[in-house]
Amino acid sequence: MKSYIVGNWKLNFAVGEASIYLHKIQKKLPNYRDVAVVIAPSFLALQPLSLQIDRHKMKLAAQNAFYRDYGAYTGEVSFSQLRGLVDYCIIGHSERRYLFHEDDKMIAKKVEAAIRNKITPILCIGETESERAFGETADVIRDQLLGGLSEVSEEDVANVIVAYEPVWAISSAKSAKLASPDDVAEVVKLIRDTIGEVYGKETGENIVVMFGGSVNPSNAGAYLTVPGVNGLLVGSSSLILSEFTDIIDIAKRVRA
Ligand code: PGA
Repeated sequence: MKSYIVGNWKLNFAVGEASIYLHKIQKKLPNYRDVAVVIAPSFLALQPLSLQIDRHKMKLAAQNAFYRDYGAYTGEVSFSQLRGLVDYCIIGHSERRYLFHEDDKMIAKKVEAAIRNKITPILCIGETESERAFGETADVIRDQLLGGLSEVSEEDVANVIVAYEPVWAISSAKSAKLASPDDVAEVVKLIRDTIGEVYGKETGENIVVMFGGSVNPSNAGAYLTVPGVNGLLVGSSSLILSEFTDIIDIAKRVRA
């Protein structure tokens, strides 16, 4: 199975800087058939980068979008406007959930709108540090997973990518800690089992599940070999050329 390395650039890089950085990545990156490399720059950079990107090597993702196609929604960008420009969209990232108050209902509408516009949603789910401390991890994961998929038809669930990102492991968290491969294995199994129970065993086995949270070249191999993990969502390490390309190399070697 293919693996996925997604670089979430968050709010970094002016358009010119993004373009130079993409140029450098493409120069360094061979064409890997079995690793899907995806970068998620800010909205402003998507259009120029879409003209520059070598689609045999990499694909573009948006970091967010709004579920209505058009109308009185000042400041928003719709999935229909992104159609053809990006192949993927990150949806429900914990920064969207906690800083911008997106709930499962809104996230579900976004997942549906992405699929309707032929954009693969990367649905992010993950528990906070206190939810984990109170033993609520499994409930939070099930609620966010089934909540986020609630507007999607059964057959379309297979086209969603799920990214498990424990909020406490994201590098920008106040006291970020590394998730152990065992922590990741347990939740990834729960994700697959939950999907399997609700949408059928085959979908549970085949759905793409990624991990994210302080991924860097020294831990990428360990996370990629966790059973059931198909890829990595990389934040801060994706902003450093050598680290991002090293992670892609590691993914290539793990799959070989
Ligand atoms: P990080 O970010 O790799 O910097 O922890 C991951 C993310 O927020 O997607």
